[in-house]
Amino acid sequence: MKVLRINSNDTHHIRKLLLRNEYPKKECVFERDDDDLSFHLGGFQEGKLVSIASFYFERHSDFPQENQFRLRGMATLPEYQKQGMGSALIRTAFPMIKQNQAELLWCNARVSAQPFYQKLDFQISGDPFEIEDVGTHQLMFKEL
Ligand SMILES: CC(C)(COP(=O)(O)OP(=O)(O)OC[C@H]1O[C@@H](n2cnc3c(N)ncnc32)[C@H](O)[C@@H]1OP(=O)(O)O)[C@@H](O)C(=O)NCCC(=O)NCCS
Repeated sequence: MKVLRINSNDTHHIRKLLLRNEYPKKECVFERDDDDLSFHLGGFQEGKLVSIASFYFERHSDFPQENQFRLRGMATLPEYQKQGMGSALIRTAFPMIKQNQAELLWCNARVSAQPFYQKLDFQISGDPFEIEDVGTHQLMFKEL
């Protein structure tokens, strides 16, 4: 397994399959994908990109920390799930985020993925909420 920085374009295929299946392809491009401080990590198995995660310098008003990063577009191809790929990407991002003087990583987690984030010591903030057409989400965060 290898974790490398990838371009935002490289994420589109897996985003479409796992996160935006029902949507037109343009929905696989996220706001801020190519901002200066945004970065994207890819997990590779035998040279094949199988897991992705994207990180954005973005503040959530519920948290007091001035410098925060947001995690979006976390996905691992089904046949490669539960092999440590997703957590390897997030663990790789922690020091990169700290290097950018940020102290907090947050995400709107699908409730189905909540146990995954809890295993990485993310905590829950507030109540679950609905995102139209996508499902129930939970704001989660980890202080770094
Ligand atoms: C959530 C997801 C990204 C996890 O990726 P992954 O590569 O399978 O994660 P890992 O293998 O690193 O899992 C780390 C730990 O979390 C557990 N875990 C992973 N997904 C889980 C889930 N949905 N429910 C419960 N536990 C889960 C793993 O079993 C593993 O546990 P262990 O450390 O005891 O062995 C992946 O299941 C996925 O792509 N799901 C569909 C898309 C999605 O929901 N993305 C998240 C949007 S917020």
